[in-house]
Amino acid sequence: MRQNQLAEFQNWFDRYVKGFYGDDIFVNAHIKLKEKHSLEVKNQMRYLVNEIGLDISDSALAEVIAMFHDIGRFEQFRQYQTYNDVRSVNHAGLGLKVLRKYDVLNSVDPTERHIIEQAIGRHNQKSLTTDIDERTSLFARLIRDADKLDIFRVVITEHMNYKRDPENFHLEIEFPDTPGFTPEILDAVLNGKVIDYNLLKNWNDMRLLQIGWVYDMNFAAALKRVRQQKYLEQMFDFMPDGDQIQHIRRQVFDYIENRIRHSENKAG
Ligand SMILES: [Fe+2]
Repeated sequence: MRQNQLAEFQNWFDRYVKGFYGDDIFVNAHIKLKEKHSLEVKNQMRYLVNEIGLDISDSALAEVIAMFHDIGRFEQFRQYQTYNDVRSVNHAGLGLKVLRKYDVLNSVDPTERHIIEQAIGRHNQKSLTTDIDERTSLFARLIRDADKLDIFRVVITEHMNYKRDPENFHLEIEFPDTPGFTPEILDAVLNGKVIDYNLLKNWNDMRLLQIGWVYDMNFAAALKRVRQQKYLEQMFDFMPDGDQIQHIRRQVFDYIENRIRHSENKAG
């Protein structure tokens, strides 16, 4: 992937997204959320590829994947007024349709185009299936980490905005902000089990699920970023007190430290 292709795609992205803004505060807040998320995931991706040492061409490829990974979100919101895939459509698949409809990737070498499509199509799988070649898998694992990194920022920011000024909060609220949490979810995170989304009842449950993402992070570099940005400290600040939360907190922080230490030993 050439650098100037990346710049062209950025231009296309900006023009495309502009078309979704209108007079509705609710709609605009949602479009803005995903526009910023896409650009921030691209920034996180630039950090990751730099840390793992990809060359300029592969770095550009990874950044294109990052910028386009949620390209389906805009059409999803226009059609369904929600970002809930279960109640609407799989936004990853819709994104691939959008890219094809506008012939966005026509200038890209077919092998790279395949990688872009696979990585986008798989970015929101619960866990990444193994039926892909190693090179495609590298990019699929990268986008999954970069995406999660920025989702930490999004949920932390949005929750603070909501607390500060609930009247002027214009984003859809999927769960009530009630006290307590669901014990099965805490248990699943502690034991590395897959969480059934139907069990989620409130924001604390959602936060536990997201805290559990650290176990799914593919690259130690992503965990370094989590530590550096203090995402988990901020997530735990929102959680209720108690022994169980303290226990999971210690376990998660120990895990991060161990993974980072292990990767540094290997590199050294
Ligand atoms: Fe997504």
